[in-house]
Amino acid sequence: MIETINAVIEEVKAIQKDRSMEPEAFRMKYLAKKGLITNFFQEFKSVPNEQKREYGQVINTLKNLAEDVYGALKADAGSSAAGTRIEDPTKRTESLGFGQKHPISSVRDEIIEIFSRVGFDVSEGPEIEDDWHNFSALNFPEEHPARDMQDTFFVAKDPDWALRTHTSSVQVRAMEKQQPPIRTISPGRVFRNEAISTRSHCMFHQIEGLYIDKDVSFADLKQMIQYFADSFFGKDTKIRLRPSYFPFTEPSAEVDIYWGLENEIDYRITKGTGWLEIMGCGMVDPNVLSACGIDPEVYSGYAFGMGIERIAMNRYQIPDLRMYFENDIRFLQLFESGL
Ligand code: DAH
Repeated sequence: MIETINAVIEEVKAIQKDRSMEPEAFRMKYLAKKGLITNFFQEFKSVPNEQKREYGQVINTLKNLAEDVYGALKADAGSSAAGTRIEDPTKRTESLGFGQKHPISSVRDEIIEIFSRVGFDVSEGPEIEDDWHNFSALNFPEEHPARDMQDTFFVAKDPDWALRTHTSSVQVRAMEKQQPPIRTISPGRVFRNEAISTRSHCMFHQIEGLYIDKDVSFADLKQMIQYFADSFFGKDTKIRLRPSYFPFTEPSAEVDIYWGLENEIDYRITKGTGWLEIMGCGMVDPNVLSACGIDPEVYSGYAFGMGIERIAMNRYQIPDLRMYFENDIRFLQLFESGL
């Protein structure tokens, strides 16, 4: 019996040398359930006791050898198959390259960096927001149109929960959590039930800014906006402040940046004015301070909120706001240089 096994070992060694057998045929002959080796194991019982040890050793030698050879035969088959494989004609030939930041993320990060240089920290709030933080604490009257279904996406028709319509809700959270001095910016996604066009979308990004301390004035606000515009757009960029109205600031203003008015796209984007509105701002209304537990007799402050898409549009001369969300690889690749 032991001689038989030794003969099989020699046979397998020969196969190992000339690699002449198909792996599956090899497996069937030696390693499968009905193969030679299993058979030898089954005969172990009837081997006389004094031979059992030697028998065990040779049969294990055979088994280990056969497994190695089977592995080698399979590897040979794999590599020769690869060698003869026809190239996939649909495969890209150029490398895919590394991913890069979306222009919205780059602009957001740059704005955060500009404000963090002058002491602003970063705060965040939830995208599903309650009526108090999105509207009531911000001094929106009960019948204000922004609360309407027309403008706001409500969650499951519950008037108390909605997708936040602006990041001003995070101001409220910041003031509720902390007494002044507060100097924070809050980047995030906001949602409005608006028709999608070149200039507007139902989902976009804002950065809110809030500064509350003793003796903060409108002059401080103007100075901060100028600092931001100089840092982000460059010293030669023209900006203007227009009086405006927001329920949560008094007085309020809107800030425009000069876009230019040379071609049709300029006309479309700036509605024929040459100016593009990029943020709203103002002095925080005393009612808002009181609602958030801050004494308006002691403290004052300013707030601003800017749209990241609009600002990125100006930075990269993007003619249509919808391009940000289409994820067209050709658009995204324009920003590959790590801008
Ligand atoms: N929340 C306003 C909006 O979404 C923007 C805004 C205006 C934010 C004035 C402010 C502000 O903090 O003071 O249109």
